[in-house]
Order: sequence, then structure tokens, then C-alpha cells
Amino acid sequence: MGQIIDGKKISAMIKEELKERVKQWKDKGIEGTLAVIQVGSDPASSVYVGNKKKACAYCGLNSLSYELKEETTEEELLALIEKLNKDEKVNGILVQLPVPRQIREDRIIQAISPEKDVDGFHPQNVGKLVIGEQGFVSCTPAGIIQLLKRSGIEISGKNCVVVGRSNIVGKPMAILMLRENATVTVAHSKTQNLKDICKTADILIVAIGKPQFITADYIKEGAVVIDVGIHRDEHNKLCGDVKYDEVAEHTSYITPVPGGVGPMTIAMLMHNCVESMEAGRGADQ
Ligand code: GUN
Repeated sequence: MGQIIDGKKISAMIKEELKERVKQWKDKGIEGTLAVIQVGSDPASSVYVGNKKKACAYCGLNSLSYELKEETTEEELLALIEKLNKDEKVNGILVQLPVPRQIREDRIIQAISPEKDVDGFHPQNVGKLVIGEQGFVSCTPAGIIQLLKRSGIEISGKNCVVVGRSNIVGKPMAILMLRENATVTVAHSKTQNLKDICKTADILIVAIGKPQFITADYIKEGAVVIDVGIHRDEHNKLCGDVKYDEVAEHTSYITPVPGGVGPMTIAMLMHNCVESMEAGRGADQ
């Protein structure tokens, strides 16, 4: 039976460490501020944004909240981002995605100053990740690396299969695992023989967005399984992309849903905000 990787516990440890770091800077008169922008009132986004603001408060960071109406134009949002880019008190800017149809997501991502892009979505930060330079890294994949490392799981030399190729999770995840010296395969919806490929994985990271898609016959005995998915099943219970009950017994380690990857995303967002504050980002804008 796989050992459960407790994302709640590990994220709490990280937030505790950050809280201490923030306190030490506060004693020297330096504070950190994250600006959080939500356009429209999608209920799931409201929950995520609320959790991000709560995490800021917990860690001792300030948060500025911008709740814009659904009909907000791209120009209006760009103007707000420009104002926040110039605001020296603001170290991090986050626009909750998805944004309404009239706003082009790529334009928004590129408008945020790379120095304040605590989501790690700006092409400049993505490029830095690819060539191994210091920059902000997308929070969910960064959190998964922390889950693996803090659980004492060896990555170097292992076969890692990432299922999913999104810009936010799959692609940066593959690059991060490569940086940790894993041998990485990226599989996706067009992959042939997905089952056989997944069965080669010592570490299987699943971010395909299909509820309980990965069953026991995708798993190599003793593999580490990381489940990025979050869905509601037919009984309205939270579940992931992995059929946990039948997969768990074939793994050495597995993340549950909820309480696995989810809490790590926010912990790593806080990490990025603290790093930005420590780098004095904002101060010299
Ligand atoms: N929507 C879903 N996940 C994320 C995230 O990590 N950051 C932002 N800004 N929006 C999201």
C-alpha cells in the first residue's frame, strides 16, 4: 500500500517557514504585498482567490484585492496591471485565470512585470526555467517538486512520465523534473499506447483533467503517483485524475485528493511572494 504524501502537512510546514522569514523582514521594516485581481465572480475562482488572501494573512504578507466586474475590458485590466507594475509597494501581481472571453489571457500574462509575476506564467520566466536561470516558477509544478523532495523520494535518474502538457502544469513540470535529472516523457491526449508509457514510470505525474482516468493497469508496481486533478464525482465527492482506491495499493507513494497537490500551489505562491519581497522587487520600479 502506498504511503500517503500529506500535502496539507508539507504545505503547512512551508507556510510556517515563510511566516518566520516574513516576520524577520518585518522587524527590519520591510513588508511584502501581493495584488490579487479577479475579473467576474466565478464561484471556484472566488474560493481560490479567498484562499490566496487567507494564506497571505497567515504568512504576514499584505494582500490588495481587486474584484472587477465581468464586463471589464482588456484595456481596463491592462491599465490596472500597469498601475500595479509601477507601485513600489507591490511585490507580486496575480490575475486569477480564467478571465472572461473579451480579455486575451496571453496579453494579460505578458503585461505583468516579470519581476512581479509570482505565478511564473510570463514568457520571460518560462524561458528562464527552460534554460536553468533563476526566475519565478509556476506554483503547482514547483509544489510537486517540494512534495517529492520533502518525502525523501529520489528523482535523479528515475523515469518520470508527465501526463498533460498545459503551460501551467505539464510543460513546466517536465522541465523541472529534467532539471532534477529525471528521464522525462510527456504524454497527452494524442499519445498512443498511453497505458504502456505510464507503466514505464517510476514517478507518474497526472494532470489530464479527466476524473479517475488513471486506473491500476497504468501503474508500474511500486511507482510514485502524483495526482494534480480535482473534480467532483457522481456523489459530489472530490476526486482526482487517478482512481485512488485501486491505484494506491500498487504504489510506493501517492498523493490524495483533496490534501495532496492542491495545498502546495498556494504555499508555493507564498514562497514566490516572499522571494520577490526579499529581492526588493517593486522597490526600484
Ligand atoms: N487558475 C487556476 N490555477 C491558477 C493559478 O495557479 N494562477 C492563476 N493566476 N490562476 C489560476
